[in-house]
Amino acid sequence: MSNPKVTGLRSAEFRVPDIKVATRFYEFNWGLEVAAEEGNTVYLRGTGKDHHALALSEGGDKKLLAVNLAADDKAAVDGLYEKAKGFGASVEAPKELRGPAGGYGFIFHDLDGRQYRISSDLAEHEEKPSAKDRPTKISHVVLNSPDREAQSSQFIDLLGFKLTDRTGYMDFIRCSTDHHAIAYTTIDRPTLNHVAFEMPSHDALMFGAGRMKQTGYPTEWGVGRHGPGNNIFAYFVDPNGYVIEYTAEVQQVDDNYKVGMPEDWVRPAELKGDNWGFADGASDRMRAHTA
Ligand SMILES: [Fe+2]
Repeated sequence: MSNPKVTGLRSAEFRVPDIKVATRFYEFNWGLEVAAEEGNTVYLRGTGKDHHALALSEGGDKKLLAVNLAADDKAAVDGLYEKAKGFGASVEAPKELRGPAGGYGFIFHDLDGRQYRISSDLAEHEEKPSAKDRPTKISHVVLNSPDREAQSSQFIDLLGFKLTDRTGYMDFIRCSTDHHAIAYTTIDRPTLNHVAFEMPSHDALMFGAGRMKQTGYPTEWGVGRHGPGNNIFAYFVDPNGYVIEYTAEVQQVDDNYKVGMPEDWVRPAELKGDNWGFADGASDRMRAHTA
């Protein structure tokens, strides 16, 4: 395959200290649904067709275990592996994958040592009708990195991502028509910043945020509308310190999109990252958990 590329974001995998507590939160507070359980891992889905949007593995405190990315078929998986290997990336050879979704894939480590699984041929569900207050799928992950430009360049050069926007502190890269699947932000430690889940509408985001508030999880930032991506956001902190976001109306882009550079994204500081100028800035609690 001459130009293999990643074509989507599938899921994230969190390590948690107590699988029952975490599963209960993501089912009843966050609005996902258990798709499968195997060993010490629970797989949770949205209403979309992806087998799962989030995997929770019991075994310790907060740690992002993996980000899972899609390729179209086995030839694309093999092609991406060979390309990454050829350029000296840290990879593990493709194989049939274990777990309830099955599939075929390989492991890729980024410049900070984070693990990604790039796969094809995973089991899918029949898509459910959109719910009034539940996520459809994972939307994006934001990762802290001491050298975000090197990180995004590697994903562009080796995995077929495209740069959508670069601000003074974030690189937004895409692998589909969604404005971004991954964003790297300049924070000196290679940790997880947050994971966003897509709500089918602004109204659904508000119903979800309302349920979170009513069940003891106040909004830590939002509701607001971001600059890059133009998506509506509401951020929360889960019981284990993971920062999670409901998002809606993310901008759809194609190759005609003019890549924004830092000078294009200068905004008045008093807006605090919200185009509407409505949201206060991120809470101290959220900031502590994104660093
Ligand atoms: Fe986000």
